[in-house]
Amino acid sequence: MTAIESARSEKAQSASASLLVVEDEAPIRNVLARFLRGQGYAVETAESGLAALQWLQRHRFAAMLCDVRMPGMNGLDLVPRALALDGDLAVIMLTALNDAHTAKDLISGGAMDYIVKPFEFPVVVEALQRALHRRTLNAEQRRFERLIREEVAARTAELEQEQAAHRDLVVSVAETLVKAMEAKDVYLRGHSQRVATLAASIADMLGLDSDTVERVRLAGRLHDVGMIGIREVVLHKPGPLTAEEYAHVKDHVRIGMEILAPLKHLGAVLDYVRHHHERVDGAGYPAGLAGDDISIGGRILAAADAFDALTSRRAYREPATPRRSIAHLSSAVGGLLDRRVFVAMKRVIEEGRSLVFVDELHS
Ligand SMILES: [Fe+2]
Repeated sequence: MTAIESARSEKAQSASASLLVVEDEAPIRNVLARFLRGQGYAVETAESGLAALQWLQRHRFAAMLCDVRMPGMNGLDLVPRALALDGDLAVIMLTALNDAHTAKDLISGGAMDYIVKPFEFPVVVEALQRALHRRTLNAEQRRFERLIREEVAARTAELEQEQAAHRDLVVSVAETLVKAMEAKDVYLRGHSQRVATLAASIADMLGLDSDTVERVRLAGRLHDVGMIGIREVVLHKPGPLTAEEYAHVKDHVRIGMEILAPLKHLGAVLDYVRHHHERVDGAGYPAGLAGDDISIGGRILAAADAFDALTSRRAYREPATPRRSIAHLSSAVGGLLDRRVFVAMKRVIEEGRSLVFVDELHS
């Protein structure tokens, strides 16, 4: 729409605009209404503030010409209530000369203009056109602000979606690393997935909230990602490790943290991974943390990791049954394992809530 078209359309809109004249003195009210109708406006009248509010509740007006002094609810009380009903309403106060200061106060309270009585008709028309023009500008401004807000909200949502997709992608790349590494070793295959499932069941048994349970599950899937940096001859060595080799294997926690460190959005998951070889007696690694200084996820992973190691086949031994593994791990409570975590894991295994061979357990 060109500027001329816009001005024409605005003029056409003002001429047909619906007005409310609020004035307790009947002669002024009637003369003003008749004059404005003659100017092409649709005009309704109200003899009091209360009657005006009733009009405003059931009808939308472009502007309200409102007397300041009225019995009952005066203009001062009416304006805020009228604007609460319709924020777009253009309000022009009609005031006696000695009330002009009150009308000025009303302008800061939301009225757009005031006319001093007795008024000349051209002054009324001019004030009305000015107020209606400003109302249009205000509406445009609000529409523009709303569009901007909607655009910003839409772009933010899009960006968040992209970031979430990117984060998921990076996590799945890390998981792929784990799977690729495990795939090379028949004894490691599926280890992280089983630890993740058991650890999540333990977290659930402990009554942790569902977000924490899922963080524990993710930490289980990623906990050994640092093994990718361990020499294959050491990783796949069938027999016992030398001190140097063991020190090298222990380094997988540090390497894993280096791989995962950029994924800051993982939050507590990073602590869970960092703590999965800590022991409650403080003899673990890499930090030698003890008791509750080890994150709950770290304590759970240590238990699930130990259980999976015992129940998995190794080159040099058969897998232990779940029952024997639990019996064996009970002696590690207070050393490697947290008591509450162990009790929860025992219940998970006994109740068959995780991927264990329940038949073996009861055989
Ligand atoms: Fe590990």
